[in-house]
Amino acid sequence: MMLEIAGLTRRYAGLVAVDGVDLAVAPGSVHAVIGPNGAGKTTLFNLISGVVAPSEGRIVLAGQDITALPAHARARLGMARTFQNIRIFAAMTVLENVLTGLHVRLRAGPLGIVARLPGFRREERAAAARARVALDMVGLGPRAEDRASALSYGDQRRLEIARAIAQDPRLLLLDEPAAGMNPAETEALGALVRRIRDLGTTVLLVEHDMGFVMDLSDRVTVLNFGRRIFEGTPHEVRGEPAVIEAYLGAKVAARLARRA
Ligand SMILES: Nc1ncnc2c1ncn2[C@@H]1O[C@H](COP(=O)(O)OP(=O)(O)OP(=O)(O)O)[C@@H](O)[C@H]1O
Ligand SMILES: [Mg+2]
Repeated sequence: MMLEIAGLTRRYAGLVAVDGVDLAVAPGSVHAVIGPNGAGKTTLFNLISGVVAPSEGRIVLAGQDITALPAHARARLGMARTFQNIRIFAAMTVLENVLTGLHVRLRAGPLGIVARLPGFRREERAAAARARVALDMVGLGPRAEDRASALSYGDQRRLEIARAIAQDPRLLLLDEPAAGMNPAETEALGALVRRIRDLGTTVLLVEHDMGFVMDLSDRVTVLNFGRRIFEGTPHEVRGEPAVIEAYLGAKVAARLARRA
């Protein structure tokens, strides 16, 4: 398996955000995690990427136990992610934003000695070349020198994906990549995710757009209140009463909250 999770739990005061979740992501697949708001999807991603430490459980990446490793070590082992709330540097150019994702391997030491070595320039050029390939792949090549703040919302989401794939990850985590996109952008995004998968990167994604999820995913895991309530093919998930109930329950709860 590309990713294996066993009994993963994260508690906050008075709340279990992720509750004993098991998950296995097959290499070369697109695997979706769905569930109503607050189900624990982003927390699960934060646990996998090492942003948040688990209260219990184990995370194994391509056979290696990474549970105790910090986020940057997981990145070095081939994990990259995007964020539900876009995290780009608005004042930097599009290209510079992608380069920030490559800094792990490029950063010079505190004395800056590395930066003065002849090999460093070469490495810097290689990073820029890589960043441009990633930008071309997401369709932002012509915008490389523009300020990131000049990009539309959908393009900013694509920029985040470019930054992640420039790192050449084995496993790519996408947290609501289609959020705020129009139907045409969402369709282009679907094609992009397929291309990324076809090039050998395993994709784990969280998404509320069900058409997008069902079209794209090999497997779907459903969370509700931090627990895994179902896992199956898109076809199996569609007809599963527990899943429908979880979504309906969430809708009714939201309506009641609005009334209160
Ligand atoms: N740092 C935190 N401290 C306390 N509670 C938190 C923290 N992070 C998340 N939670 C809670 O954990 C639960 C799961 O949150 P999470 O963000 O993982 O949900 P989600 O499935 O990503 O929801 P959405 O679809 O709205 O993005 C929520 O009840 C949330 O309020
Ligand atoms: Mg979330």
